[in-house]
Amino acid sequence: MDVLKTPGDTGWFVNDRFGMFIHWGLYALPARHEWVKHQERIPDEVYDKYFKHFDPDLYDPTIWADAAAGAGMKYFVITTKHHEGFCLWDSKVTQYKVTNTPYGRDLLHPMVDAFREKGLRTGFYHSLIDWHHEDFIVDNLHSMRDSPERAAMNVGRDQGKYAAYLHAQVRELLTEFGKVDVLWFDFSYPNPEPGLGKGKDDWQSEKLYKMVRELAPNVILDDRLDLPDGWDIKTPEQYQPREWITVGGQKVVWEACQTFSGSWGYHRDESSWKSVDQLIQMLIDTVSKGGNLLLNVGPTGRGEFDYRALQSLQGMGEWMKRHSRSIYGCTQAPDGFAAPQDCRLTYNPDTKRMYVHVYAWPFVHLHLDGFAGKVEYAQLLNDASEVFMKGPEAWQVGPDGVKGKETLTLTLPVQKPNVTVPVIELFMK
Ligand code: GLC
Repeated sequence: MDVLKTPGDTGWFVNDRFGMFIHWGLYALPARHEWVKHQERIPDEVYDKYFKHFDPDLYDPTIWADAAAGAGMKYFVITTKHHEGFCLWDSKVTQYKVTNTPYGRDLLHPMVDAFREKGLRTGFYHSLIDWHHEDFIVDNLHSMRDSPERAAMNVGRDQGKYAAYLHAQVRELLTEFGKVDVLWFDFSYPNPEPGLGKGKDDWQSEKLYKMVRELAPNVILDDRLDLPDGWDIKTPEQYQPREWITVGGQKVVWEACQTFSGSWGYHRDESSWKSVDQLIQMLIDTVSKGGNLLLNVGPTGRGEFDYRALQSLQGMGEWMKRHSRSIYGCTQAPDGFAAPQDCRLTYNPDTKRMYVHVYAWPFVHLHLDGFAGKVEYAQLLNDASEVFMKGPEAWQVGPDGVKGKETLTLTLPVQKPNVTVPVIELFMK
């Protein structure tokens, strides 16, 4: 089944497979989730304390880019503005921006330059939602949703003016930062009940989509503008899809976005950090179903990736150093090749190499149904040591219950290779 073609240039995207999401804004200071303004119903005059104290003096985007490249990431997506409304660049259409904070300087150009310098492609996340803008109608998602002043606040608010502001900022982002490869809007929540939701009419999404395609015809666009067709990628979030994402029964390009610990923004006290094993298995699982993984870091209010994020990225980089060719250029295995128990398969159609990612190391034998007679050579990817193959042969219908005519049996070392997830590289005939 062919994958749905859309205007965005997804060729490099489905090859590179692995990107860094970065959620950074004033919410790094409260350090307890990027939705803190919503969750704690914080009014602007109180939230302003974070604006007045935002001064990431240790910010060095070359360190961030090194960490991303070292982990094997090939693109990054930065929150230019999140739901709080604060902008990381010197936007001409607002005063609610980093250049008016104690830090006083644009954060975005140095970041884009540093990541490009390391060979990573550029993505901008831009929030459709804005809990600071004076024309954004206070609705049931707004930080002031339960305020007794809600009705009074909405008097004179003009959502059309907000949409114009939104479009003006997207124009800035697509014209002032060179080639933008990914544009990641977030998010629509249409609701027929007035005042409850916001969707394409509130953003003027059709008009915005037309402008985006005029300014950046091949930019990869996510699926959150509330437009049935105006997207290039589907974006499952914080869960692992069970199979290749389809729309109308057709496979589509998709990208799972995930966090290290649950919160997208820096969260000092969150303890639900995924292990490096889990993170690597998540990356493999995603590619085994034809998807991309966009893994998020929430930098601190000093402008750093904290030690937990750095340790996770370093652990992933250590694995990618020897196993990246089982990820880059790979996708789901062709029909007819089923992964053995506790394994995932990825396949590079150009090199005709199959990769068996072994999540639970078996004792000596690994049986691959459907592979007999189709593999020319096998090796452990980490050290290129040969793996012996057998099958199908009479001896196989023996005590270990191997069945099936097409089974290829690999003989593995008793000891699991000293890597997070061992991978066997199969050179297909
Ligand atoms: C959800 C969260 C938002 C986050 C986004 C990332 O929309 O509400 O905070 O930026 O996911 O995909």
